[in-house]
Amino acid sequence: MKTLVNVTGGYVVGERFWGREKELELLLDYIRRKAHLSIIAQRRIGKTSLMREAGDRLGPDHIVLHIDVQEAGCAADMVVKLVSATKAYESLWKKTKTFFENALSSAVDRVESISIYEVEIQLRAGLSGDNWRNKGAQTLDALAGHDKPVVLFIDELPIQIERMLKSDNQGVGAAQDLLTWLRAEALKHQGRLCMVFAGSIGLEPVLHRAGLSANINHLTPFILDPWSDAEALGCLSALAAHCNLDLPKPAARLMLERLGCNIPHHVQLFFAKVWEECVKSEQTRCSVEMIEGVFKSKMLSTQGHVELTHMEERLRKALDDAELPLAMDILTQAAVEGALAPPKLQLLCDRHNVDPPQRPQRLTDLFLVLEHDGYLTKNATGEYVFVSELLRQWWKARHEAFFELV
Ligand SMILES: Nc1ncnc2c1ncn2[C@@H]1O[C@H](COP(=O)(O)OP(=O)(O)OP(=O)(O)O)[C@@H](O)[C@H]1O
Ligand SMILES: [Mg+2]
Repeated sequence: MKTLVNVTGGYVVGERFWGREKELELLLDYIRRKAHLSIIAQRRIGKTSLMREAGDRLGPDHIVLHIDVQEAGCAADMVVKLVSATKAYESLWKKTKTFFENALSSAVDRVESISIYEVEIQLRAGLSGDNWRNKGAQTLDALAGHDKPVVLFIDELPIQIERMLKSDNQGVGAAQDLLTWLRAEALKHQGRLCMVFAGSIGLEPVLHRAGLSANINHLTPFILDPWSDAEALGCLSALAAHCNLDLPKPAARLMLERLGCNIPHHVQLFFAKVWEECVKSEQTRCSVEMIEGVFKSKMLSTQGHVELTHMEERLRKALDDAELPLAMDILTQAAVEGALAPPKLQLLCDRHNVDPPQRPQRLTDLFLVLEHDGYLTKNATGEYVFVSELLRQWWKARHEAFFELV
C-alpha cells in the first residue's frame, strides 16, 4: 500500500509528489523538444510542484534554473533572480558573476559564503537604467553556450507584470519592454534553452487586458487540470495509510463530492482537517458522518482560511480597482444562487453603472479572468457556476450577509 505525507503549503516534490505521471511525461517531452511553454491552470492545482518535479526528473543532463519573480517589481529585478539562480551551478556562476564584477567587488572575498539574499542586493546594485538588457542577455548567452541544454522555469511572471502595470513609474511600456525582451531572447536561443512560465494568476488574462497578448504567441499552452477522481482517491488512501487511518471508500468519495473539484491543495487540506479530528477524538476510522461534520465545521468555518482568503487576494491582484466590485458581486450572486443566468449579469451591471455599450467588452475581460483562474465555469444550460463547491460555499458564507441578490 502506497503512503503519502500530508503537506498543505508550499510545493511538493519526490516522495511527497502524488500522481501526474502523464502530465510529467508530456511536459518533459515538450521540454526535450525545446518548446517554450506557458502552464495554464487554476489556482492551487500544483503548477509550481509540477515544474519542480519536472526539473528534478530532468536530472544531470540538463541545467535547470527555477526563478520565482513574485517579489520582482521591474525587469532589473528579474535579471537579478536569473543571475542569482546560476549560483547553483559553479561553472556558470563563475562566468555570470564576471558580468557584475564592479557590483560584487565590495563582497568579492565573501561572495561564495554570503546568502542568496545578500548576493541579490549586490547584483541589484550593479543594474541601473536600461543595462538589465545587456546584463540579462550576457547571462542568457552564457547559459545557451553551455554544453548541456538549459531549462528556465519562471514562476509568477503574471504577478510581476501586474505589479509593473499598476506601478506609477512603469506601466504598460515597461511591461511591454520586458515581455518583448524575453520573447526575443527565447527565440534567439531556440533549441539551446527553453523557458517554462507559470503563475498563480493567469498570464493570458493579464496580458490581454493590457493589450500585450502578442508577446506570448511563441509559448505553447500546457493545460494542467485538477486531479482525476482516481488520482484524488489514490492520494486520500495513501495519506490515510501514512497516518494508519481507516478511510473507507464511501467516506473518501464523499470528500471529493463535497470539494466538487479535485484541486490537489484542497484534497490535502480536507485530509488534514479529518486527521486532526481523528486525533482529537481518538478515532482511527473515518465515518461518512465524521467527514460531513468536518466539512461543515472545519472546512467551511471562518477560522483558518488563509488558503481561501488567498483566492480573494489573488483576484484583487488580477483585476483593477474599477473591475473588482462587479467581479465580487458576480461571484457572490453565483455563490448564493448556485448558478448565475446571463440576464442577471445585466442587472449587476446596472447596479455598478456600467455603460451598456461597454458591457460586452467589460464582461468578456472579467470572465476571461474568472474562468481562466478557476472561479467560474459555464454549465450545460449556459449558466455560470463555481468550479469548486468548496470555494462556492466559502464565498457564500463570507459574503452573503451584506449582499442583496438581483
Ligand atoms: N502532485 C501533488 N501531490 C501532492 N500534493 C500536491 C501536488 N500538487 C499540489 N499539491 C498540493 O497543493 C499545494 C500547493 O502546490 P503548488 O504550490 O505546487 O500549487 P500551485 O498551483 O503552484 O499554487 P499557486 O496557484 O498558489 O501558485 C501543495 O502544498 C500540496 O498540498
Ligand atoms: Mg505556484
